[in-house]
Amino acid sequence: MNQSWLFASGAIFATLLAIATHVALHSPISPLPLPVPSYLHYPSNNLLQDVEKLGEGRLKEPEDLCFDGEGMLYTVTRDGWIERMHRNGSWEHWVLVGGPSLLGIATSLTGAILVCDAQKGLLKVRNEEVTILASQVTNGTRIRFADEAIETSDGTIYFTDASSKFGFENWILDFLEARPNGRLLKYDPSTKATSEVLPDVYFANGVAVSEGEDYLVVCETWRMRCLKHWLKGEENGKTEVFVDDLPGYPDNINLAPDGSFWISLVQIKLAAFGLISRSPIAKRILASFPALVQMVKPRGAMVVNVGADGKIRRYFDDSDGKVISFVTSAVEFEGNLFLGSLDSNFIGKLLLK
Ligand SMILES: *[C@@H]1O[C@H](CO)[C@@H](O)[C@H](O)[C@H]1NC(C)=O
Ligand SMILES: *[C@@H]1O[C@H](CO)[C@@H](O)[C@H](O)[C@H]1NC(C)=O
Repeated sequence: MNQSWLFASGAIFATLLAIATHVALHSPISPLPLPVPSYLHYPSNNLLQDVEKLGEGRLKEPEDLCFDGEGMLYTVTRDGWIERMHRNGSWEHWVLVGGPSLLGIATSLTGAILVCDAQKGLLKVRNEEVTILASQVTNGTRIRFADEAIETSDGTIYFTDASSKFGFENWILDFLEARPNGRLLKYDPSTKATSEVLPDVYFANGVAVSEGEDYLVVCETWRMRCLKHWLKGEENGKTEVFVDDLPGYPDNINLAPDGSFWISLVQIKLAAFGLISRSPIAKRILASFPALVQMVKPRGAMVVNVGADGKIRRYFDDSDGKVISFVTSAVEFEGNLFLGSLDSNFIGKLLLK
């Protein structure tokens, strides 16, 4: 056996040992294999490239948006502002909440605005004053990743805690871990108590209530599906699959005026990612090196319209994210679709034909 061979194999062995030790000591995740979306039936149409850009340059990664009764648009930005756009198109810095983690925003029937601050919990903003409605489950665990909220006509607020293990800044780690760390919660305004409705959700993301309020739909992101949870009738309290096999990871969901739903689908299509995501060991290694984790980034954008029957009726995408990418929410209002994104500095507006 020659010496250089011995030296090389010794060096390789030492390197592998060092990596294994690093991974054993530092991997922040305990992963399960992750299924990857099939894009087969959805050839790209790039229709999202036609968006008009609202508030361009002023809005830092506006994740979600909503409209109030007067048609005023509200959104949240990474610099902690709730910004709003008047009907005449002029923007106003409305309320500074602070922090990088404002996510879901929704209107309350009482005229208040509800905001999910991943770190602080469920917030209510009225007359420019911010109050925290829930930062933990009553007599239970802290809310770590408040994500999206929706109110029903009796004032009950359903909202999601995307992951009780990783915070917003580490959502990629929750993605790599792919375990049911999330839950759907409920805030009861009469008792001010917050309780768990659905535990063990694989990233509990968007939530919307059906037209007749007989069920809600909650997006289970890492499983590429949304669940239907009955609020009324014979099935009250039961949960079933609403739509699955989505061509991407569902983020926020919003009821459309015709009773269907708009769902934004996060696109993560790295080369070789299919292989990595199916291997818990590969994911454990990846998660141990922050520089590698940073390479796992959404690119491109897609939104789907799903009927009340759970069938996809139409979709729009921007496959390479040329104009808009990482679209996180889609809200239909007066014949247009408005899009929030964690990778843009504007709200997209698309005329629906
Ligand atoms: C738009 O409307 C708001 C609220 O009524 C008003 O304060 C603002 O001056 C208007 N801006 C323009 C450009 O008309
Ligand atoms: C929380 O704990 C208090 C004191 O033990 C109890 O009175 C209350 O009913 C509990 N609330 C809920 C919602 O479980």
